[in-house]
Amino acid sequence: MTDQDTLKRRAAEAAYEYVAEGEYLGVGTGSTVNHFIDVLAERQPELAGCVSSSEATTTRLKAAGLDVVDLNTAGDLPLYVDGADESNDHLELIKGGGGALTREKVIASASRRFVCVVDESKRVGLLGRFPLPVEVIPMARSFVARRLVKLGGEPELREGFTSDNGNVILDVHNLEILNPIELEDAINAIPGVVTVGLFARRPADVLLVAGAGGVEKIER
Ligand code: A5P
Repeated sequence: MTDQDTLKRRAAEAAYEYVAEGEYLGVGTGSTVNHFIDVLAERQPELAGCVSSSEATTTRLKAAGLDVVDLNTAGDLPLYVDGADESNDHLELIKGGGGALTREKVIASASRRFVCVVDESKRVGLLGRFPLPVEVIPMARSFVARRLVKLGGEPELREGFTSDNGNVILDVHNLEILNPIELEDAINAIPGVVTVGLFARRPADVLLVAGAGGVEKIER
């Protein structure tokens, strides 16, 4: 394991402390969550079922012997565990580096507690160094890109990528996100936008940050 993998594994193990048997569990997407799925595979908790945020996570959960159920069946969830590309001190996040932002935002919003697992490289003072992913329906791609330029960003089409929902992603560079809630609302208001990867209206409730000195827990 690389050093970063070791940190991700530690964050994943810390997140497992929040898992309760007999309940539904929302599971995010990405390399940190893959470690969390490994922990689930090893410990095999008796869950009511997992609600998955992507096709990739569904495949991994099933391979680990865990039941995957539809969000429509599960209803609101007690817990969602996911990673992030950036987090600020208010636990507002940029997500969507893996392209699963829409389902991630739906599940995060349907969950009473969102535990976010990161390594220390993801903590920032100001969000926006990581290009902000925006999922867009394909016919609106150019129009939305022009609107994003007006908001001060430099959108770039994620080449060769189609989301699980059949859409494209614009990665928006060079944004200094001084007011995440305002920008989230502004981007969501552009016709053709499905989801912006800013999680400010629904930030994390708990951030588990793995670093050389251990796992730091930050709560909102
Ligand atoms: C997936 O679409 C993302 O939101 C991920 O949660 C995020 O990119 C973090 O991924 P890693 O754990 O691989 O860094």
